[in-house]
Amino acid sequence: MPRSRPWIAYRDLSHALGDIIHLHVLGQHIVVLGSAQAIYDYLEKRSANTSDRVQSPMVELSGASLNIAFMPYGQWWRRHRRSFWQYFHREAAEGYKTTQQSAAHIFLQELCERPSDLREVIRLNFTAVIMKIGYDIAVQSKDDAYLKIAKDALEGPVEGMVPGRFLVDFLPFLRHIPPWFPFAASQRLWVKWQAAGDRLKNTPFKEVKAKLASGETTQSIVANSLERLSKMGMSSPEEEEIVKNVGAMAFEAGTDTVLSTMLSVFSGMSLHPEVLAKAHAELDEVVGPHRLPDFSDKDSLVYVNAVIKEAMRWHLVLPLGVPHATVADDEFRGYFIPAGTMVIPNTWACMHDPEVYEDPDVFRPERFIRNGKLDRTVQDPMAFIFGYGRRICPGRYFAEAAVFITVACALHVFDITVPLGEDGVPIEVKQGHTDGLISYPEDVRCTIKPRSATAEALIRSHATAARQALNG
Ligand code: HEM
Repeated sequence: MPRSRPWIAYRDLSHALGDIIHLHVLGQHIVVLGSAQAIYDYLEKRSANTSDRVQSPMVELSGASLNIAFMPYGQWWRRHRRSFWQYFHREAAEGYKTTQQSAAHIFLQELCERPSDLREVIRLNFTAVIMKIGYDIAVQSKDDAYLKIAKDALEGPVEGMVPGRFLVDFLPFLRHIPPWFPFAASQRLWVKWQAAGDRLKNTPFKEVKAKLASGETTQSIVANSLERLSKMGMSSPEEEEIVKNVGAMAFEAGTDTVLSTMLSVFSGMSLHPEVLAKAHAELDEVVGPHRLPDFSDKDSLVYVNAVIKEAMRWHLVLPLGVPHATVADDEFRGYFIPAGTMVIPNTWACMHDPEVYEDPDVFRPERFIRNGKLDRTVQDPMAFIFGYGRRICPGRYFAEAAVFITVACALHVFDITVPLGEDGVPIEVKQGHTDGLISYPEDVRCTIKPRSATAEALIRSHATAARQALNG
């Protein structure tokens, strides 16, 4: 098992051996699908048999048992997915756009004030949105306790849920070694991760329950779900568990994926001034200097949409998706695939296929545009990066809207350039992506400044109203 950037090693293996590779690692069958066709044929068309997940002890040990993404295919998963979907399907996601827009306006002001804190400002922005819609809890500053709870809870799933990273995946008895044992560093990590997962699941949930018990009016996914259960006389510890998990899942699956996407956009912009100049020109023409972009501008902002597609293609948030697994013995293109085989889609390889995208490592939004419109004949990264079949990301409409409004607003008002040292000389940025289930651009240092005095005034004039709208 390649430990670093496995998506590149798998791509190279696919070139040598074909687009279906079989690995057998300590008793676990693993199939890596290396082309768009193989992924479509197996994970989309044969989704009824390829929507399971291999159950690793790491799900529980990394504090991720609450997350639908790691649940086995079956009734428990289905009940969670149904419950989650009713709040995030296409029309439901429309209902969050006002909140997303307010959060984007606050984001601009935060970034204006702390431009060197890009990662933390983005995290604050998306945590605030999820806390608002999930629990009706206001997260307003970088010192908010919920920001730490969310950040701590993500460490386990991001670092622990990488197939093969921990030996316990293959030697399950290792989980029983007590954390105080010498050399039990992993075991100590697991205790920390599980406690962090429990805090994420229980702390905001208890706050909502207390509000409801005291008769306070509160509107959120968790509050509405609890009230509905109560009205229908269906409250039970099991139903409440699902509500808890749905709230926490929006967090766990939704914050760092969007964070990584945003970092990729900023990184692409700082390294490609010619791209930012074109985005600025389009925003000046469509939106003009006296307002901020909104969702009604989306179709007219062709170049900005292409920038987002290119950022998502260039840097894959989940380069190997989330591995699926087969439910029953199967046959695919003449190969026997036993039940319980882990099926890894090499989404990164599809997005970096030179036959489909010329010079795939180059950041070039123009590849998605023809005659001034988005070119529908070019393979759309959105059909890949959110996964496949019955497991396709149920937060995709919400995620797309969040990324669009935040990127459009940020590009409208900021200049984003390479980082400068204290002597004013540009610092060379290390281009690369981290390992882990979620991958991040490695070095996102850049210089962020308002484009003009008018842009700065625009940022400040919108922030107060946005704070009022978001947090009351
Ligand atoms: C740009 C941002 C995002 C990307 C790239 C992304 C990508 C993915 C991918 C690749 C999967 C696995 C699909 C598969 O198994 O084939 C997934 C699953 C999931 N995502 Fe997202 N996601 C994003 C944002 C979000 C957001 C904002 C939410 C919630 C509000 C969310 C909720 C989920 C959930 C609950 C699952 C588990 C689905 C299941 O296993 O049935 N995601 N996502």
